[in-house]
Amino acid sequence: MSKPLSKLLRREQFAFLARDRSAWGDHLDTVRAFLGEGLQSTDPTQPVLILGAGSGLEVPWALAPPDTTGWDGDPWSRMWTAARHYRWPPWVFEDLTGGMSELEATARRAVREPWSGHRRALDAAKTRLTGLLPSLVPDPNALRAWIGAHRPRTILVANVMGQFGVMAEKIVETVFGGPPWDPDPEREEPLAEALAAWTARAIKAVLRVLCESGADLWLVHDRAVVFGGGALDLGPWEDDWTRHLRAEGSSLEASDALAGVDPSSFLLGNELNLIERDRWIWPVAPGQRHLIEALAIRRKV
Ligand SMILES: C[S@@+](CC[C@H](N)C(=O)[O-])C[C@H]1O[C@@H](n2cnc3c(N)ncnc32)[C@H](O)[C@@H]1O
Repeated sequence: MSKPLSKLLRREQFAFLARDRSAWGDHLDTVRAFLGEGLQSTDPTQPVLILGAGSGLEVPWALAPPDTTGWDGDPWSRMWTAARHYRWPPWVFEDLTGGMSELEATARRAVREPWSGHRRALDAAKTRLTGLLPSLVPDPNALRAWIGAHRPRTILVANVMGQFGVMAEKIVETVFGGPPWDPDPEREEPLAEALAAWTARAIKAVLRVLCESGADLWLVHDRAVVFGGGALDLGPWEDDWTRHLRAEGSSLEASDALAGVDPSSFLLGNELNLIERDRWIWPVAPGQRHLIEALAIRRKV
């Protein structure tokens, strides 16, 4: 894990924990119950892996079998978990996507001429990075290697996949010294589109490793981020997440947190069965609500 990325993750964690959590009660109860069910349904003698374990706010560690490992790129995450749960589990601090360091190095090469060190003009740097991004293919090799070595029976994916795109944007903004995106949302933004495509490749690469792991999977993730404060309801379950959301009398502004990837259709190949699914609205902050999706997926036996 590169230093700038672990610094960014640490800063994000502080910001996450410093938020006003007074409206989070239902979300925390539901997510803990779901992940807790995953921890209790596994064979307690077998290894378990928790991805995006963070500070353990959403993870009921008291229910985790003895051989449970946490995975989170934030260098303080295990310390936070120990303080919250009085437990010091084994931990991996690597980047789950395997691609963030390369993304950062590529953004640096786009911003400054490598041969002279001179800073390029903003438009030239953006065009350069937009052109380079399609050749970057994130490879979660640390995750694949860990799974190959430890053979976890169950893997929890605790609200981390929706963060890949957020972190990718933050890396680019940090290297550029500020947001390089066009502030007008109506205007085309090729760099943002190329970065969303990179994020989709990263999410798919992680899902592919999870698919091949042979483990039972308990996934919780942001499916969408909804902006604005109007009334919001959930309609019947549909394959298309945009149809889950119902706003009374007002239009909805919502963005896909997973860059167009649908985890359930991706995972439900021949070898896997959906055994449980749920979704709910998490009021993260005034004017910002997340549509959360929870999926429990088991190998066919
Ligand atoms: C929304 S928080 C999840 C909170 C966590 N489930 C808990 O119970 O506290 C997302 C977590 O994912 C971690 N994360 C984000 N991107 C990551 C990456 N590429 N590799 C490893 N960890 C990452 C962050 O450090 C953060 O702790």
